[in-house]
Order: sequence, then C-alpha cells, then structure tokens
Amino acid sequence: MITMMCNRRALRCMTAMAAGLTLACQYARAQDTSSAELIARGAYLAKAADCAGCHTALPQKGQPQPRPFAGGLPMGSPFGTIWSSNITPDKEHGIGGYRYEDFARVLHQGVAPGDKHLYPAMPYPSFSKINDEDTRALYAYFMHGVEPVNRAAPETKLPFPFSQRWALSLWNLAFAPEDPFTPDPKRDAQWNRGAYLVQSLGHCGACHTPRGPAYNEIGYTERSDSYLTGGTNDHWYAPNLTSMAGAGLGRISAQDIAAFLKTGHGAGLVTFGSMVQVVEDSTQYLDEPDLISIASYLKSLPAKGDGGAYDAQSRAARQSVAALRTGDEERPGAGLYQTACARCHQSDGAGVALKYPRLAGNPAVLSRQPDSLVRLVLEGGKAPSTVHGPEAKKMPAFADKLTDTETARVLTFVRSAWGNDATPVTTRDVKRLRAAVDTR
Ligand code: HEC
Ligand code: HEC
Ligand code: HEC
Repeated sequence: MITMMCNRRALRCMTAMAAGLTLACQYARAQDTSSAELIARGAYLAKAADCAGCHTALPQKGQPQPRPFAGGLPMGSPFGTIWSSNITPDKEHGIGGYRYEDFARVLHQGVAPGDKHLYPAMPYPSFSKINDEDTRALYAYFMHGVEPVNRAAPETKLPFPFSQRWALSLWNLAFAPEDPFTPDPKRDAQWNRGAYLVQSLGHCGACHTPRGPAYNEIGYTERSDSYLTGGTNDHWYAPNLTSMAGAGLGRISAQDIAAFLKTGHGAGLVTFGSMVQVVEDSTQYLDEPDLISIASYLKSLPAKGDGGAYDAQSRAARQSVAALRTGDEERPGAGLYQTACARCHQSDGAGVALKYPRLAGNPAVLSRQPDSLVRLVLEGGKAPSTVHGPEAKKMPAFADKLTDTETARVLTFVRSAWGNDATPVTTRDVKRLRAAVDTR
C-alpha cells in the first residue's frame, strides 16, 4: 500500500513522509527504479525529449534497419560533423555501466563518465532544466526498457581546436544556464507545465532561438528577449514562436498549434523541414493536456523579434490578385507561381485543407529569414506521417526545374502576394543555399 502511494507521485510520497513513514518511503523509492509504471513514464518522456530522433541512425540502402538509440546519426555543426552516441544499456558500447548519478550529470551538465565533455549538439543546456523525478523515470526506461545494442557508434573527430573537449568546460561556464526550471507562482499550472516542457524536454529553443557567435543559444527562458524569436540550424530556419502578428504565432490559436504538433497540420499550415522529424518522433506522441499546455505557453509569449507582416485587405493584396489574373511584367514571379505552384497552393494562396498548406498569411512564409523556403523549393519535402494526421503529401523539388533567379522571383512573389509583406528573396540567397545543401 505504502509502496503504491510512493510510486505514483513525489507529492504523495511527501504526504506519506509527513505521516511519519519516511523510512518505508525511502525504501520504496530505492526499489522503484524498475517498476513498469516508472519505465512507461520514462518512455513517454523520452518521446517528449526526442532522444530517439538524434540517437538513431538513418536507414542506409543495403544495410539492416538501424536499431533505436544505437547512435550513429551524423549532425552538422559549424565546426564539423558530430556523431550521436550509442545510449542503449549495452555495457561495452552504450550506457549500461552508468549509475543514476552519471546519467543525471550527462543530461544536466553535458559531462559523461571519465569527464568526457559533450558538444552542445546534445541539448544539455535545455535538459539541465529536466527535474529530478523525470530524470529518474528516464533512467529507469534507458536501463530497463531499451534493448542493448553491442555496436560502437562512429567517433566524432572535429578539427583542432574544437577537438579539445576540455575546452567545453569553459564554454559551459560562459554559456550553459545553471538554474533549474523554476515555476512562476504568478502563472497557473497549465502555463508552468507548458513552460517546463518547452524549455527542458522539448528543447524547442535549440532550433527556434537564435545562436550567438559561439553557437550558444541566446537565452533559455522567456525572460530573454531573444528566446524563441527564430534561429537557423543546418540551413533550416525555425520561425519566431512569439505572438508576432505576421511572422509569429499571433494569428494562430492554441488549438491549432496543438493540432500542428500532433498531426503536422493546423490553421492551414503544414510542418516541413527539420520540424517534420520533431512531429514524427516526438510531439505527435504527447497527450492532449501537454500539447495544450505547450500551445498556451507559446501564446503567452509577448511579440518579440522581427519578420514580415500580413494584411489581406491591403492595396498590395489586391494588386497581386490582378497580377495573377492578367500577368504582369513587373512581377515575373506571378507567372511562375501560376505554372509551377498554383495547382497545389491555389491561385488565392489558400492551399487545400489537410493536403497543401496555405501560403497567404502563413507565418513561416513571412519569416525574417527565407532559408527554409529556399531550401524547401530546391529539395522538395514531405509532410509528416503521423498516427492521427491525414495522409502525407509531397512537395516536388524544383532544383533542376527553376533557375536561381526564377526561384528567387517566385518566392519573392509568394512573400508579397495576397497581403503577405516580407523582404524579397535574392538570387544570391538561392545560390548560397544551393551550394550549401548541394542539390543539382
Ligand atoms: C538534438 C540531438 C540530441 C537529442 C535530442 C538528444 N541527444 Fe544525447 N547526444 C547527442 C549527441 C550529438 C551526443 C554526442 C555528443 C558528443 O560526442 O560530444 C549525445 C550524447 C549523449 C550521451 C553521452 C553518451 C556517451 O557516453 O558518450 C548520453 C547519455 C545521451 N546523449 C543521452 C540522451 C538522452 C537520454 C536523450 C533524451 C532525453 C538525448 N540524449 C537526446 C544528441 C542528442
Ligand atoms: C530540429 C529543429 C527544431 C526543433 C527541435 C523544434 N522545431 Fe519547431 N520548427 C522547426 C522548423 C525548421 C520550422 C519551420 C517549418 C514549419 O513551419 O514546419 C518549425 C516550425 C514550428 C512551428 C510552426 C511555426 C510557423 O510559423 O509556421 C511551431 C508551432 C513549432 N515549430 C513549434 C515547436 C515546438 C513547440 C518545439 C519543441 C517541442 C519545436 N518546434 C522544436 C524546427 C524545429
Ligand atoms: C504537388 C503539389 C505542390 C506543388 C506543385 C508545390 N507545392 Fe509547395 N507544398 C506542397 C506540400 C505537400 C507542402 C508541405 C511540404 C512538407 O511538409 O514538407 C508544401 C509546402 C510549401 C511551403 C511551406 C509552407 C508550409 O506551411 O508548409 C512553401 C513556402 C511552398 N510549398 C511553396 C511552393 C512554391 C513556391 C511552389 C512552386 C514553385 C510550390 N510550393 C509547389 C505541395 C506542393
């Protein structure tokens, strides 16, 4: 009976302690590291943190299907390729030898046994905010709920001076946040739950917060002006998630944000780029209360940062409709849009619900920085496949159908049509990205 009480929640554990059952309770906790309930909770948290997304290799032709958590996913960083580690409970090549303290230190401080300092490609600056209760559940899951894989992940070899892992302790001193997550007593439980999930397990800032010159995220909570105002990683621009009316989430309801995270579709937007994996591996598995908490936390963020605007009633909006109808030499992008894009995204830019995203008023289209849009048009994309969402549709690649200038023109049109008002895309932007992502 006491065991059951203690297993469930620390709160009940404390109640039990208050009742003078301290010893029994501590005993129960020590026994607790492998209870089925704790392991299941750890599995849910591992989804919320997307451990599998980074620690599972991509399938290769002619190779056996990669095993979950066995590592070997290459990650581009400005300093070179970083390979993710094998985090299965294998004693030789994985983390089977970790004590709980070792596990907590890796997650919270980025230091593995043997004082091996990790590169912040492992999002420990965010994970430092994971609370002790959740860290224990994750540990139980990785020790008892994951199959060991006896295979070494490729070794990371960065050029000097980045090869010097000890130097990361200096980076940590300068940039990694020290404070654990602290609930805001002026906010309700839902807000605090959302803040906790976004800042810690969800590590949303790893992509959505701009980075400084040392690859450091500029801010880890809403108390920073830059937090979640948009960032670029691996040539994907993750948009502003504050309440900006144009390029932010100001016009998107909390319900729609929750649906976007669960199914990849919400308010006519469709997940693309590096967010597809986040939805497929992680957010689609979150329960409804957690999704709504995340969405309401995001909706509470005051508008910050910059980006384009949207006004469906503007004069420019009417002119773009006329340009589509009659053709306009001043706007060569309009003709390209009609031939290459309108059959899916429609002439009025409204898309087709649950199939093709709307481009009119789409905050990602109005982003301060157009990298994601250029990369998507060059490479094409596929909406996420989820348990609860519609069938995933594809966007074709235009790398060998449109020249750099045409790509720039059609995107400039998209960013200025139907009331969209964002900066033009230049031929140079397209050239730079084509070289970077190496599409032919
Ligand atoms: C955004 C990608 C990413 C996510 C998400 C991520 N990791 Fe990692 N992790 C890495 C990379 C990359 C490394 C290797 C870093 C290095 O070599 O310095 C790493 C290293 C580790 C190590 C160190 C292993 C060792 O001894 O070398 C552990 C343990 C670990 N991660 C556990 C986790 C757990 C548990 C989660 C989920 C709660 C998680 N990681 C989520 C990218 C990620
Ligand atoms: C690996 C990088 C990455 C991570 C981690 C990430 N995102 Fe994203 N996110 C993106 C990119 C890139 C886009 C732009 C493409 C799109 O709109 O789907 C995006 C788009 C979004 C959008 C749509 C915004 C818009 O203007 O259309 C929302 C909402 C969002 N992310 C929420 C989150 C939340 C919440 C988390 C944390 C649980 C998160 N993201 C974690 C990369 C990421
Ligand atoms: C065959 C249908 C199709 C055609 C043609 C097409 N797209 Fe798309 N487009 C899609 C789909 C599907 C997505 C979602 C892709 C994803 O999730 O990776 C998308 C996504 C986008 C997005 C991101 C918006 C969002 O919220 O997901 C932009 C911008 C875009 N397309 C622009 C264009 C432009 C510009 C053209 C013409 C050069 C074009 N598309 C042609 C189907 C199409």
